[in-house]
Amino acid sequence: MRRPLVVGNWKMHGTQASARALVNAVLAGISGVSADVGMCPPFALIPVVADLVGPRVWVGGQDLHEQEAGAFTGETSGVLLKDLGCRCVIVGHSERRTLYGDTDTRVAEKFRRAQACGLTPILCVGETLSEREAGSTEGVIARQLDAVVDCSGIGAFADAIVAYEPVWAIGTGRNASARQAQLVHGFIRGRLARRDAGIADRLRILYGGSVKAANAGELFAEPDIDGGLIGGASLKADEFLAICGAVRAWTS
Ligand code: 13P
Repeated sequence: MRRPLVVGNWKMHGTQASARALVNAVLAGISGVSADVGMCPPFALIPVVADLVGPRVWVGGQDLHEQEAGAFTGETSGVLLKDLGCRCVIVGHSERRTLYGDTDTRVAEKFRRAQACGLTPILCVGETLSEREAGSTEGVIARQLDAVVDCSGIGAFADAIVAYEPVWAIGTGRNASARQAQLVHGFIRGRLARRDAGIADRLRILYGGSVKAANAGELFAEPDIDGGLIGGASLKADEFLAICGAVRAWTS
């Protein structure tokens, strides 16, 4: 049985003061939450968050550079994220793919670098609206997944998370329906199961894209949806806690 995981991706939001207030409010309500919980603040806020949360909450980066170190002005290394107390890091978010030119190959290199630094990668995959309308959702997801499997091997998914984030659902208020999401989650698990059924069965696959308290329960009830990667709603403690509380019951 897979333990549910809910991760907040704060994107480029927050100051030290607002981060402290948000983390403290989440911690105040987290005792009844059975899911694993994570937060991915902007890089500069990672020390603030890591100092407050303790072991109960995973702290993660929103991205990392694929190289270990070097002359890459403005970039952040996996080594530093680990040093700051991160447990995980998002790779391949659609905003990185579309706005910053992260190709499948580069995402695969970032995934590999994350693991080399002792970080659990949260690999984001997802199709655009035009790709969905053209009937190529599965082809796109397969291409994005295969690039990582070809680079790191299926064994690497024993310590990784996958997040299905349809681009058309991110920040739009229009989430994928539970059925639409489950179909893609099932496809992801099935594709990886062709390489290693055990690893695919244990892999946590999160859904992201306009998750809120009002739709989380329906999404998380699906058999292959193991939690969520939450954007806007992770910035409001009550809403985020309600989403964390909506995960399905699990037994270890
Ligand atoms: P929203 O929850 O704001 O749609 O963002 C989803 C997302 O991109 C999480 O990584």
